[in-house]
Amino acid sequence: MLTATAMRRLIARKRDGDAIERESLLAFVQAYMENVVDDAQAAAFLMACVLRGFDEAETLALTEGFVASGERLEISLGVPVLDKHSSGGVADTASLIVVPWVAACGIHVAKLSGRALGHTGGTLDKLEAVPGVRTNLDPAQFFAQLRDIGCVIAAQSDRFVPADKRIYALRDHTATVPSIGLIAASIVSKKIAGGASAVMYDIKAGNGAFMHDAAQARELAWLIVRLTRAFGKKAVALVTDMNEPLGSSIGTALEIIEARDFLAGTRRDPRLYDVCTALVRAMLHLAGHEQIDDAVTTALESGAAYARFERMLTAQGAKPGALDALVSAADQHAVTAMHAGFITEIDTVSLGEIARDIEENGNPTGGIRISARIGTYCRVGDLLAIMYGPCEKLSEVSAAFKFSATAPSVRPLIYEHILGHLD
Ligand code: URA
Repeated sequence: MLTATAMRRLIARKRDGDAIERESLLAFVQAYMENVVDDAQAAAFLMACVLRGFDEAETLALTEGFVASGERLEISLGVPVLDKHSSGGVADTASLIVVPWVAACGIHVAKLSGRALGHTGGTLDKLEAVPGVRTNLDPAQFFAQLRDIGCVIAAQSDRFVPADKRIYALRDHTATVPSIGLIAASIVSKKIAGGASAVMYDIKAGNGAFMHDAAQARELAWLIVRLTRAFGKKAVALVTDMNEPLGSSIGTALEIIEARDFLAGTRRDPRLYDVCTALVRAMLHLAGHEQIDDAVTTALESGAAYARFERMLTAQGAKPGALDALVSAADQHAVTAMHAGFITEIDTVSLGEIARDIEENGNPTGGIRISARIGTYCRVGDLLAIMYGPCEKLSEVSAAFKFSATAPSVRPLIYEHILGHLD
């Protein structure tokens, strides 16, 4: 067992740039879980990892340590079981949409998810915005729901990757999120513990993602795919743009409303639609589905995906009618353009942080809904966004939109498909 003194030496070695050997990383996770290493030491170590880097062997060892901290589900349903994970972005409701959509195409999806991290929203928080919904499922409940409903989204817990649960919260608290190795270990450990046979990753690139450019995101995507394969699972990844919010709604409750409306067909943001469709198609391909075009369209347009979403929420405790009853905050303020011109840039992190502040200041149904996108031409007074909740930060929301007289060049929404699956 690692002692607090030995941990101090380990922190110093990482601070000075050493690579840490597997046994010490496994011992760190175990000692932290047994409270021999406290939050201060763990946070100092994580910060040293962020600043000094974390190589692939270290990342694999940390992933193993996280997985070993809890139970590893072995799912044997005789059919492929998929999982899906995003590396994190703003207005990224894709998991809420894609999981029931894929299930409605006849493919099982078992997902272990996380909470808000830094400026990005958390899938668990969004689910729990529906009154009654629980995400803290034990392995037996997780498996039973997967078998009966075809899809489930649950949290890291005291039984599923508890080390990721604690370290994830500590990273959020101490600004130690943006490290390729720490992100990869956190994500992959959940996918291994959740028991799916194949995993779809959506790795975000841009000013609203932890990876700011497509090259870094590509590096993370390949690392995650290799790590997943090292545990004997299939994996594929898309590298997608996060230089502006993915959907139009930013804020926990606003985002579950956006997912509900998307599945119900009443409001579909085109960027969100394109990314979700690409993810669903890639997942069906990964599962060996033979009628992808028909299945994708029929499951969404027939209402089957929406019905599956409702069944999943009901199974996880949603009160009757709770999903339909969700509304955004009544206190609404328009943010309008102060300049004429094309929008060339959106400060995605700033919008994510403002929405998180609005919610944390006692407005659980607050946030921001944007109407203008990069490339939109605005006249003075045109609507950029609506703020839900108090309007103190109206000028900051307005400042997040940058204008120019010339139109920006068009960026791809999907940079790359990484097909790393085992055949
Ligand atoms: N998602 C996770 O689960 N972990 C991270 O570190 C980042 C995104």
